Amino acid sequence: MSDHSQNKSGGTLKSPVFWIVFILVMGAVISWLPMSIIAKSRFTTSEKPRIHIFQDMDQQPKYRPQATSAIFADGRAMRQPVQGTVAFGDVQESDHYFRGYERVETQQQGKFEVTYFKGFPQEVTVDENFIKRGQQRYEIYCTPCHGSDGYGQGTVHLRALELQQATWVPPTSMHTDMVRDREEGHIFNTITHGIRNMPAYGKQIPVKDRWAIVAYIRALQLSQNAPISDVPEDVKPTLR
Ligand code: HEC
Repeated sequence: MSDHSQNKSGGTLKSPVFWIVFILVMGAVISWLPMSIIAKSRFTTSEKPRIHIFQDMDQQPKYRPQATSAIFADGRAMRQPVQGTVAFGDVQESDHYFRGYERVETQQQGKFEVTYFKGFPQEVTVDENFIKRGQQRYEIYCTPCHGSDGYGQGTVHLRALELQQATWVPPTSMHTDMVRDREEGHIFNTITHGIRNMPAYGKQIPVKDRWAIVAYIRALQLSQNAPISDVPEDVKPTLR
């Protein structure tokens, strides 16, 4: 009789060779598990956050911008600065430089009279470099609509004509008497806040660059409208 038939509990006892082979095969199969889990997580997506073993200080309770908070009576997490606070280095005292206009209160309560400044503020020096800077900024921010020559034939304008946009308002030409007669401060303010259908560029163009653009517009206007008296005597005969 073999060992098998003597086992009264019903099961059969296997030989040690079987167990060795069994363990080896199982070991081989199990050793592939991590590989297949890694492979699966590489190629599938999951709603759960990644496994994050080293937390460091990556997750902290904090308020995001515009979030609400139960701590404050008004429910806002973002607090208003104390009234009258001016951020360091952010005093904008010069009306001419920072705004381009001056506001004077009139007799009538709450009504103001606005005067735009003529000429350039003392904070800037209008020289060749400054105008070149203005040209570069103009080419970046204004050319798409007003065109390199300022006549208002920029690519955005041409495209709008192509699309036959009924609501399209053409960009103003810089070479109209209206824009020529505008105070420097007025053009500065147009860049800062936009005007009628033109959007504002104050958020994108720093104050000094805005003045540089104004200087360049003046140069551009002169290029199309110089009086004969500005032409040097020796060049005059060559004019046609
Ligand atoms: C998205 C197109 C667009 C861009 C970019 C643009 N403008 Fe204009 N601009 C207009 C339009 C349109 C008008 C006319 C608005 C109207 O009459 O409703 C205008 C008008 C003006 C005027 C005349 C305002 C007046 O009545 O005195 C000036 C000056 C001017 N733009 C300067 C600039 C300068 C400088 C830049 C670059 C910083 C610039 N614009 C960028 C579209 C643009």
